[in-house]
Amino acid sequence: MTALALPILTEPSESLSDLIPSRRPDRTQRQLFDSHGRTIRDLRISLTDRCNFRCVYCMDPDVRFAPNEHLLSQQEIIRIARIVTSLGVTKIRLTGGEPTLRPDLCEIITGIRTWSNVELAMITNGSTLTPASCQHWKAAGLNRITMSIDTLRQDRFARLTRSTTTPQQVLAGVHMCIDAGLTPVKLNAVLIRGFNDDEAVDLAEIARTFEIEVRFIEYMPLDSGHRWDTSKWVSAAETRAAIELQFPLISCDIDDESTTARTYRFADGAPGRIGFVAPVSTPFCGACSRLRLTADGKVRPCLFSTREWDIRSLLRDDRATDDDLAHFLMDVTWSKQAGHGIATPEFEQPARPMSAIGG
Ligand code: 5AD
Ligand code: SF4
Repeated sequence: MTALALPILTEPSESLSDLIPSRRPDRTQRQLFDSHGRTIRDLRISLTDRCNFRCVYCMDPDVRFAPNEHLLSQQEIIRIARIVTSLGVTKIRLTGGEPTLRPDLCEIITGIRTWSNVELAMITNGSTLTPASCQHWKAAGLNRITMSIDTLRQDRFARLTRSTTTPQQVLAGVHMCIDAGLTPVKLNAVLIRGFNDDEAVDLAEIARTFEIEVRFIEYMPLDSGHRWDTSKWVSAAETRAAIELQFPLISCDIDDESTTARTYRFADGAPGRIGFVAPVSTPFCGACSRLRLTADGKVRPCLFSTREWDIRSLLRDDRATDDDLAHFLMDVTWSKQAGHGIATPEFEQPARPMSAIGG
């Protein structure tokens, strides 16, 4: 007899999303710092939980999306961006789901840019890009784009993303971004054991030919089907060793302690870089400078938070001032957990998949 499949919660229950975080003891400094000595400089804003792909490590085909009225409006997103900038955030990354599915994306970029001089980046699956859209985003004030490609083989790409997009389309998107000046372009790749772990060298070669950074991200337990397990996971060290058999690498200096990636250049002097993001084997929580805002208006102190804070209600309460929102964000940041503890027995996978959190 087969076990019954349990329904999967794609939205956290209300009890998970608390309304009022406990107060940060000292509110004199208008900055976002936590109780572990870390300061937040980087906000990731998910513009939508929807996506035209259904990557196996992220979304099940029948994933349920938040109703439109739950999504933050353009004005709400821009207001938050303005407030966090006043609190010392210097980098905003627009993410999803697939952020290019937002019809008002250009207006959101323009609006954020009107109020803020942050470094503004976006992550996309690359399937919808056109030369014109890239130029519009650039003109509106977007600085750079990160895309993802996990396999160069059409049959695998179709199975992995459950889409009709081809790897060639994504690579064409890389050219469009470079031509539009949305640089430096980065290309993310997730390797899954037994599926695409034989493609590390081929993907690394893309970095050389396109003169960009290809980043290998360790597969994380953030899939909506909760099917992640260590047997499917490939460590950054293993990936690096496979690449080095073909292309020896030289470590680059770390110029930003809070960066998630360790980067390498090619020993033979070829252009391009390789990055490794290793949250599972080498957690980088100690230097974390990130906070996340979900498309439906929850603030998540960590990708792996099992608790999140509802800022949407405050945004939709006419009595709440910008100062109230700033204090709310300061208090939420104060509550940020020390680390995700993926490798510990107590680790609890968040109810939401990556697409609903914002990568
Ligand atoms: N593990 C690692 N990376 C993931 N991404 C999405 N889900 C996962 C996961 N479970 C990546 C995507 C994209 C970025 C937003 O996050 O491939 O590059
Ligand atoms: Fe969409 Fe990105 Fe999730 Fe793939 S990983 S389904 S592209 S949100």
